[in-house]
Amino acid sequence: MPRVSAGALRDRKKAGEKIAVLTGYDFPTAKILDESGVDAILVGDSCGMVVMGRDNTLGVTMEEMLHHTKLVSSAVTRALVIADMPFLSYHISPEEAVRNAGRLVAEACAQAIKLEGPAKTFGRTIQAILDASIPVMGHIGLQPQSIHQIGGYKVQGRDPEGRARLIEEAKGLEAIGCFALVLECVPASLAKEITETISIPTIGIGAGPDCDGQVLVMHDMLGMGKYTKFSKVYFDVGAAMKGAFEDYVREVRSGAFPAAEQSFE
Ligand code: KIV
Repeated sequence: MPRVSAGALRDRKKAGEKIAVLTGYDFPTAKILDESGVDAILVGDSCGMVVMGRDNTLGVTMEEMLHHTKLVSSAVTRALVIADMPFLSYHISPEEAVRNAGRLVAEACAQAIKLEGPAKTFGRTIQAILDASIPVMGHIGLQPQSIHQIGGYKVQGRDPEGRARLIEEAKGLEAIGCFALVLECVPASLAKEITETISIPTIGIGAGPDCDGQVLVMHDMLGMGKYTKFSKVYFDVGAAMKGAFEDYVREVRSGAFPAAEQSFE
């Protein structure tokens, strides 16, 4: 099966086909994700929370993103691998941003990167990364790296000013050349309007059903993350794992494991 490219996601929007994206952070789950037919795997800086147990994404480093992206890339043969640019990896200068985006592509084999924020703030940076032939996915609405400025994980764009601002930001990121745009925690009607206004695919998370695609944090949809209104637990892997661990503990203590079939003559 051919490898999914950034351009292929744009074609999916043109063809009216929905795009399914999930986050991934390690080799075994990325392999299963790839085999599931998911279009893209986002190595999100959400790994700081769901894998490393931190309160927010701000402490995630370039080295950590390189590590997780390498693990995912080693497993994937079909889906598009998109790596998140962590906090401060693209804020200081376009040169530093290109160096960091380039490392995610050259050392960790990502095919594209994602960064949070509008073209008004990061236009020169995004342009410089695009000039290095690295596809860029935008991310607006709730930007977890701006959590201290926003003051909490809140729905964005509910008031008329916020709504107009987000429509302008979406147009700005389309104009500069982003291949897709994550819309996080915005009203469904606003996501619909943005989706109908821009030609690049919108990938929603907490943005209603009318986006061109959806993304979920893998741990949330497997019952191993936090409850969020916009996520759905497809299978409670967390409960299944706990049950298996409890069975193991019980069998070790009772002497039922290992049995003859797990022992050598
Ligand atoms: O880091 C992440 O997983 C993300 C998604 C929530 C879009 O940015």
